Amino acid sequence: MTYLLFVAIGACAVVLVSGAPADDKQVHAQFQSTDLSDALLRSLLDDFLTNLDSWNVTTSDSAIIKQRKHLKGTRALIEAQGYPAEDHVVVTEDGYILSMFRIPRPDCPPVFLMHGLLASSADYVVLGKHRALASVLYEAGFDVWLGNARGTTESRRHKTLVPGDAKFWDFSWHEIGSQDLPALIDHVLNATNQTSLHYVGHSQGTTTFFVMGSERQEYMAKVKTFVALAPIAFVNDIRSIPVRLMAVAPNALGDLIRLMGANEFLPNSKLVSWLGDTFCADGDITQPLCYDIMFLIGGTDSQQMNATAIPDILANTPAGAATKQLIHYGQLIAKWRQEFRQYDHGWLGNLFRYQSLSPPEYNLSKISATTYLFTSDNDLLSVKKNVEELVRRLPSIAPDGVKKVPFRKFNHLDYIFGKNAKELVYNDIVKIIRRHDNNKIPAF
Ligand SMILES: *[C@@H]1O[C@H](CO)[C@@H](O)[C@H](O)[C@H]1NC(C)=O
Ligand SMILES: *[C@@H]1O[C@H](CO)[C@@H](O)[C@H](O)[C@H]1NC(C)=O
Ligand SMILES: *[C@@H]1O[C@H](CO)[C@@H](O)[C@H](O)[C@H]1NC(C)=O
Ligand SMILES: *[C@@H]1O[C@H](CO)[C@@H](O)[C@H](O)[C@H]1NC(C)=O
Ligand SMILES: *[C@@H]1O[C@H](CO)[C@@H](O)[C@H](O)[C@H]1NC(C)=O
Repeated sequence: MTYLLFVAIGACAVVLVSGAPADDKQVHAQFQSTDLSDALLRSLLDDFLTNLDSWNVTTSDSAIIKQRKHLKGTRALIEAQGYPAEDHVVVTEDGYILSMFRIPRPDCPPVFLMHGLLASSADYVVLGKHRALASVLYEAGFDVWLGNARGTTESRRHKTLVPGDAKFWDFSWHEIGSQDLPALIDHVLNATNQTSLHYVGHSQGTTTFFVMGSERQEYMAKVKTFVALAPIAFVNDIRSIPVRLMAVAPNALGDLIRLMGANEFLPNSKLVSWLGDTFCADGDITQPLCYDIMFLIGGTDSQQMNATAIPDILANTPAGAATKQLIHYGQLIAKWRQEFRQYDHGWLGNLFRYQSLSPPEYNLSKISATTYLFTSDNDLLSVKKNVEELVRRLPSIAPDGVKKVPFRKFNHLDYIFGKNAKELVYNDIVKIIRRHDNNKIPAF
């Protein structure tokens, strides 16, 4: 979710100035535009000042960062850590050609990792050897597979379409969950000759799992355990200000972005990498602002962020997403209360597609895979009230399956980029998966 903000602030400012359309009156009343921009500015400023005090980077760090070449791409990151890497290509039923990476440990239990919105498989390796989730799982004896959703940096191909076509981007996370995940999972099972795997998802990587469970329930039998990091299905209580701003008028915002010629939202570009190198590298006076922009989205605290790693992160994130993915979340925030529904095409479009005026709800009772949820109070996107509702509706949560990260300030991005994510979260994931696969892990 990181870089929503760069565009979000600009685009939302235009929406707010030009006035939200009448059909969003209720939400609009709740969030008067002046209140919002005040709150946003205040929050930015407070956080900026707080970080400025504690900000402290030595010159030796900045010398290192200037010398190092940022590694781009999942394969390069895996190989730089000295692990074997395999590329896999998977074609979905609707023609998208996806890339998947593997850190192979043949005949060991496969663990499949799925990334969040605007992220990619690089998420699970960018923290580096012994620290990134893929690395920790591999060293614990698992066969690690990293999926990439359609539209991300390394999955931008289709049998007949190209990313320049608007039609290429005509998908939301609904399609990622109902088409991409089944294709990727089948590929892993076929390649490993296994009947089931362990699934770990972060943020949108959990939303897509819920979609798959609801729409393709037969896949639940292929998942031994489902580990959800910062789960997202209900979103109406999201506390992240920029995300709420975007949701004031999701369809208007979508139209606006499309008018600007973008069906794709924030592709990973040289520009963003350059911004990272220029403004976020150690020693740059602007680095605290960089933190703030990132953490305003997912939690306004940067205690877990490793400053030195930000340019590496920006070399791979944001990884591209369809504008519809954002609009779909925006609709859930703006229109529904504790309802997890399919994409809203307007009543006429809904009649045509779903034979009902409203888009259908996803059926969470069908998520029959053994479920573990990791949550944190400082997560502004996967917030307590919404997670509690999710816990009420999911039928197969393990007896000790709702975990709170034992660090009060842990935020939405720390699951992926946190300095101590291994101690706070990943070691637990290894324990959980081991427990469900106890006979098969060789000792290392
Ligand atoms: C800031 O730098 C000083 C001197 O190098 C060091 O003593 C101090 O521990 C640092 N503070 C933090 C928060 O890193
Ligand atoms: C399954 O794997 C075998 C080799 O292990 C391969 O020949 C076959 O094409 C694969 N099938 C699918 C549907 O991927
Ligand atoms: C796949 O597993 C089945 C049993 O689970 C076994 O009979 C078969 O020989 C295996 N195939 C390969 C290619 O390992
Ligand atoms: C911070 O990131 C740099 C570059 O990736 C790495 O060398 C360093 O060990 C990291 N520090 C911690 C505490 O994770
Ligand atoms: C939801 O799924 C459950 C379990 O398969 C089923 O019993 C129930 O009827 C479904 N509800 C709806 C509204 O389809």
